[in-house]
Amino acid sequence: MAHKRLLCIAPAHVDTDALLCDTMPDWEICSVTSLAEAARELRNSHYLVGLLMHDREQQRPGDIDTFLRRHGNMQWVGVFSPRDLESTPYRELVVEHLCDYHTAPADPVRLSYTLGHAHGWAMLKRRRQQLIDHGNADSPLIGHCDAIVRLRAQIERVAKVAAPVLIWGESGSGKELTAQAIHAGSERAAGPFVPINCGAISPTLIQSELFGYERGAFTGATRGKAGLIESADGGTLFLDEIGDLPKDLQANLLRFLQEKTICRVGSTRQIRVDVRVIAASHVQLQQAVDKGEFREDLYYRLAVLPVTVPPLRDRREDIVALAEHFFQLYASEKAPRLKGFSDRAISAILDHGWPGNVRELINRVRRAMVMSDGRLITPEDLGLTRGIPAPMSAALEDTRARSERSALRDCLERSGQNVSRAARDLGVSRTTMYRLLSKHNMRP
Ligand SMILES: Nc1ncnc2c1ncn2[C@@H]1O[C@H](COP(=O)(O)OP(=O)(O)O)[C@@H](O)[C@H]1O
Ligand SMILES: [Mg+2]
Repeated sequence: MAHKRLLCIAPAHVDTDALLCDTMPDWEICSVTSLAEAARELRNSHYLVGLLMHDREQQRPGDIDTFLRRHGNMQWVGVFSPRDLESTPYRELVVEHLCDYHTAPADPVRLSYTLGHAHGWAMLKRRRQQLIDHGNADSPLIGHCDAIVRLRAQIERVAKVAAPVLIWGESGSGKELTAQAIHAGSERAAGPFVPINCGAISPTLIQSELFGYERGAFTGATRGKAGLIESADGGTLFLDEIGDLPKDLQANLLRFLQEKTICRVGSTRQIRVDVRVIAASHVQLQQAVDKGEFREDLYYRLAVLPVTVPPLRDRREDIVALAEHFFQLYASEKAPRLKGFSDRAISAILDHGWPGNVRELINRVRRAMVMSDGRLITPEDLGLTRGIPAPMSAALEDTRARSERSALRDCLERSGQNVSRAARDLGVSRTTMYRLLSKHNMRP
């Protein structure tokens, strides 16, 4: 059982020893007479529970509010005169910051009972917090459902070998986090982890970004530069959205995987690089191989160790724990009165399909923490108001599909049925373009 400690703030004329010691023999009590003194004590020492006996002479509501806001991680019990409790600022204080209050003169027995309860409450909260923080001390992946337990075991196994890994999963499901965990669990952990999003670098730059270039390789190359592969030497290279890698670079990458050497652009010198490659994709690469968009030989090279990250909707049991984790993580951005999710919010969270996966969850929770003006986050704060009538959403879906089809048709027409160019015009990757075309049964 943890030692119970109380920080008691009381006016100098109150004999706190006489008031508390008899009824609270198992507590260690530190008494101070001002908020400033209390703040000093809290800088040096840790308390779960505080007792604020209001001193009308010395403490203004604004000061108390500032103080309690700063120390909102403790459970506070207040003692106020009946007269104080009639005025709005004090009532606000009680509602915002205190877990309970008594009217002066406080009854020692009842007060000790309240403080004991506050301590028990604080312990429960702390335990939950520890579970959230350290639930899996050696994994950054939060969750206990079967799918995550399996993923964690897979990460552990894969981390120990040197072969390439191919991670598949929907956007925002945790592919990059998984790659980081593999790196961190490998013997390369002390080396660099270098992520590259193949879909985000322009096709004209990606060659020199990946492989580097020699001085004079092209106009403006006044100095040579190491590429990202070289900079990952001794560590892990994470190739995100590998499906977007242009075909000619797929050949170069394959050569690198086979020979473990690279040539900078504008040079024939072979440079040895010791890099472990982890690739990720949100599309099933096998399908891209079937369509001839992705080299089969490269696919087999990369997919030696396949890992699948399950979508959030298949991890129902973990969604609430994840939401609470992010709530705690962004707690410093939130209003201190915000205590958590309402029951309605929890059911809305469980009902939602989470197409954007964990990333969507993070965004919604952060947004809700800013938007909420109550003590608990509501479905409205999360933007998860159910009950949009079905016909309406079907109509929306229909409208959307129709406008997608017409945009695709227009762009293809303008580009002379050239898919790459049409994709560029639409601002999507070629992979996305093909996905859209097949979704709408269209052929260039
Ligand atoms: N199981 C998890 N536990 C904690 N955070 C997660 C988990 N899965 C994903 N995240 C977080 O969600 C966000 C999106 O994850 P990320 O790995 O970038 O997804 P992806 O690469 O699949 O798009 C990141 O901020 C990541 O830290
Ligand atoms: Mg990603």
